[in-house]
Amino acid sequence: MQKMNIISFLFIFVFLMFSIVTASTDDYGLSTKYYDRVCAQALPTIKRVVEDAVAQERRMGASLLRLHFHDCFVNGCDASILLDQTSTIDTEKNAAPNVNSARGFEVIDRIKSEVDKICGRPVVSCADILTVAARDSVVALGGPTWDVKLGRRDSTTASQVTANVTIPSPFMDLPALIKSFEDQGLDEEDLVVLSGAHTLGFAQCRTFRRHIYNDSNIDPAFAGQLRTNCPQVGGDSNLVPLDPTPSSFDTRYFNNLVSKRGVLGSDQALFNGGETDELVSKYNENYEEFFKDFAKSMIKMGNINLLTGNRGQIRDNCRRINSQ
Ligand code: HEM
Ligand SMILES: *[C@@H]1O[C@H](CO)[C@@H](O)[C@H](O)[C@H]1NC(C)=O
Ligand SMILES: *[C@@H]1O[C@H](CO)[C@@H](O)[C@H](O)[C@H]1NC(C)=O
Repeated sequence: MQKMNIISFLFIFVFLMFSIVTASTDDYGLSTKYYDRVCAQALPTIKRVVEDAVAQERRMGASLLRLHFHDCFVNGCDASILLDQTSTIDTEKNAAPNVNSARGFEVIDRIKSEVDKICGRPVVSCADILTVAARDSVVALGGPTWDVKLGRRDSTTASQVTANVTIPSPFMDLPALIKSFEDQGLDEEDLVVLSGAHTLGFAQCRTFRRHIYNDSNIDPAFAGQLRTNCPQVGGDSNLVPLDPTPSSFDTRYFNNLVSKRGVLGSDQALFNGGETDELVSKYNENYEEFFKDFAKSMIKMGNINLLTGNRGQIRDNCRRINSQ
């Protein structure tokens, strides 16, 4: 009798401990509460600096969202994109999709220094900062919110050649885009809904010139309008908004695709008589579905190939690996 009770007690105890651990963490050991005990002010501080930056320049929200995407697609969400060039680091900042294009690094530096100051020491990883800043940017511009599980660690390496190869290009057709996302464990729904991030921000002439001069799947009046700001020769860095409301997270991007007014070739490829047409139509007509699925796919993208536990490090400075 006595022995049975001890065994039952142990069994219940082990079960309870297991429940406590699994309630707040997922398979990677990530948790939304990861910083709650070590630094309760970490997340509110990130949010405050992002809101400040977006209030100063609305486009910054778009740029921070894109930084997270370009981080995650290159060996996972490990802040590799933030590392500057050194003798041992081949910076991703000079990779084709990033050079003269990726922006927001100074805002990430500001977040990191304010978070470290309020926490008293460097306990929050740059990879988590990028992930949370992307979410807070979307919220600041009127998009959906979602819970971010935390505990990502920072890489000690970067790869320019991988960035050149794995970040999708605006000249890709639908099969190439699908393949690029599939290589990251993302499906066609993720591709379409995450491309909806192009409801925010701007593109440079050099990224859509071919589409507006050489492609036939574009509304001629719209092409004509873009050509005034993007000549056949020169004006490479002239900016146009990716949808008519580049500071509002809305369904105008999908609206445009349905009427052949996608700015990038890769945007219009999603609605061009292929298998993703239906998804584009769905998100065009239903912003609630767009918001809900965008949040779901952002969580999925934010969990690509993470460094957790003792792997990687928590950088003191997001631009360089720690010297020890
Ligand atoms: C599907 C494949 C994608 C391609 C080919 C692509 C390509 C591009 C290109 C060429 C630009 C313009 C950059 C410039 O001219 O400097 C751009 C901007 C942008 N992209 Fe994408 N992108 C893709 C997916 C995504 C995803 C998944 C996200 C985020 C979830 C994203 C977020 C953004 C944002 C917010 C901007 C505006 C940035 C700013 O104004 O600073 N893109 N993208
Ligand atoms: C990446 O692409 C850029 C621009 O095309 C090129 O200058 C650079 O050499 C490439 N880097 C590597 C490591 O292949
Ligand atoms: C359009 O296509 C023609 C013929 O292939 C090519 O010569 C031209 O450079 C292209 N223009 C642009 C802007 O890509």
